[in-house]
Amino acid sequence: MHIDTRERNYIVLSVLLMLIFATALMVSAFAYGIQVPVPYERVDPRTVATPGASPWGNPVEERVRELAPNKYEAYILAQAWVFLPNKITIPKGSSLTLYVTSKDVQHGFNIQGTNINMMILPGQVSTLTATFDKPGTYNIVCNEYCGVGHQTMYATIEVQP
Ligand code: CUA
Repeated sequence: MHIDTRERNYIVLSVLLMLIFATALMVSAFAYGIQVPVPYERVDPRTVATPGASPWGNPVEERVRELAPNKYEAYILAQAWVFLPNKITIPKGSSLTLYVTSKDVQHGFNIQGTNINMMILPGQVSTLTATFDKPGTYNIVCNEYCGVGHQTMYATIEVQP
């Protein structure tokens, strides 16, 4: 079969580009640990905050749990215009698994200074695990416009030395 030189060049170029993109994907996933937030489970946004119905219906102070030494999980409810709980305190070197959902509209969840950035949709639970090795205060901001109070929607993670 005859393939025109220019056509062959474009085929080679396309394959090369795909290989470059696949390599970039692997490097970001494995070398930099960039994870795509996975929809973890579906919930009913109308009842998710009902006391006793789900971990997001528990009292705010019970939504951060220590599973093992230096291993924590937090169930965070996003709503206009707060994250609850809005302050999480963990010791340095802890891994924190976040389960975040919204009971009203779409919100954002970005931990400043990290690569943690999730879209929070009503009815869907977004989850990510991160390890906090450096002590300090990490600000969580909502980075999806969610109404007039959007710019006041934030929370903090306190990593103790
Ligand atoms: Cu919530 Cu913007």
